[in-house]
Amino acid sequence: MPTVAIIGAQWGDEGKGKVVDMLAAEAQMVVRFSGGSNAGHTVVNPYGEFRLHLVPAGIFHPQTTCIIGNGVVVDPEVLLEELELLAGLGIDTSRLFISSRAHLVMPYHTLLDGLEEEFRGRGAIGTTRKGIGPAFMDKAARLGIRMGDLQDAASFRDRLDFVLDYKNAILTKVFGREPLSKEDVYNRYLEYAQKLAPYIRDTEPIIAEALDRGDLVILEGAQGTMLDPDFGTYPYVTSSPPTAAGACLGMGLSPTKINSILGVFKAYTTRVGGGPMPTELKDEVGERIRERGQEYGATTGRPRRCGWLDGVVLRFSAGVNGFTGGVLTRLDVLDIFPTVKICTAYQAEGSKIERFPSSLSLLERCQPVYEELPGWEAPTDHVRRFEDLPPQAQAYVRRIEELMGCPISIVSVGPRREQTIRVRPIL
Ligand code: GDP
Ligand code: IMO
Ligand code: MG
Repeated sequence: MPTVAIIGAQWGDEGKGKVVDMLAAEAQMVVRFSGGSNAGHTVVNPYGEFRLHLVPAGIFHPQTTCIIGNGVVVDPEVLLEELELLAGLGIDTSRLFISSRAHLVMPYHTLLDGLEEEFRGRGAIGTTRKGIGPAFMDKAARLGIRMGDLQDAASFRDRLDFVLDYKNAILTKVFGREPLSKEDVYNRYLEYAQKLAPYIRDTEPIIAEALDRGDLVILEGAQGTMLDPDFGTYPYVTSSPPTAAGACLGMGLSPTKINSILGVFKAYTTRVGGGPMPTELKDEVGERIRERGQEYGATTGRPRRCGWLDGVVLRFSAGVNGFTGGVLTRLDVLDIFPTVKICTAYQAEGSKIERFPSSLSLLERCQPVYEELPGWEAPTDHVRRFEDLPPQAQAYVRRIEELMGCPISIVSVGPRREQTIRVRPIL
């Protein structure tokens, strides 16, 4: 029954896509459990380079069944484009199943995401504008339309009639926009329904059977813990739980069934969108990290904010998720620095803060307290064994383990599958 959860430990874009694609070589199933097409999971493998938004990163392995769980909100247009691209490359997509309980991203969600962001003005979250927040709002408000609703045209029409009246009232009366045409939306989604019909299932039994067989099941997280609506930098967060607990909710899995929880994090910190980031560097060092790491968003192309590694974030994230191991990615990006810094605590108004604060205003006043370690100034992208890393790089990894309070299982030194150092078993 082994299950391994791959969880973002920072603000997203930690390299989860690479890790899942690599580990899926050994797995029979990969399940996406949260987020939607706000995610951009980059995979570089013998088929090419891909930025997957909805299809689980296990799709490249012919023995791996892929599932989009109930916790994901699905934009059918994005999903169909992705499926077409993969099929065009000869990749078998018939092993993908979408939960009938997963909610649909509708055209009004995408519209409202943009309108609400504009309305927020200076307080804009910097969302990906993919309709994610509005779709999860509707799920909670019991105004959502689910994948399963697409399976019966008459009841879909009824549901859309009811919901679209409500949404059009908001579009016209609150935002002064044109209403959406019921006919257009209905016809468009009917076409999606036909194309997606073969994929829609009750997915929980498929997952349960895999676990009963003793299959290795990978739970593919989206976003990162610091974007969690409860534990992240609220309100600058996403709208579904990226945590290990979110994996249980987003696929119908008992918490007793997760065997290994791997926290993926970069050797430094990045964030895209608004909100506090205590170790952000607005100087030349931040710029060098961004350029060397090509830190531009996989979904929106926005430049990512960059800074040194934040040990306070990692410790907090390890606690919230109960990481059994860490996956440190992009170590190679730091190869050029004569020294590297790790934030071990924050300082605000003369007090030392060791736990990630819940208060946004306090967080905005937090200054990082750094520990400076010698850099290695040598390439690591070709290294495949931990003991072959330069001693300074080994020391950096060991210090992170201490600060995080959990062992590091994998170190990644490049985007390709083979650019990986297995430090200890993941299970
Ligand atoms: P995800 O959202 O967590 O899957 O991460 P993204 O795909 O948004 O961003 C991670 C980026 O880092 C992608 O461009 C990957 O190809 C790349 N990447 C992953 N691991 C490594 C690594 O160890 N070194 C380098 N240089 N790039 C990496
Ligand atoms: P992956 O899975 C990085 C950020 C957005 C914004 C906030 C809310 O690739 O790691 P949303 O569109 O979710 O309402 O935006 O969350 N965000 C991400 N940042 N990686 C992601 O996903 C993200 N998904 C959302 O930039 O700050
Ligand atoms: Mg990403």
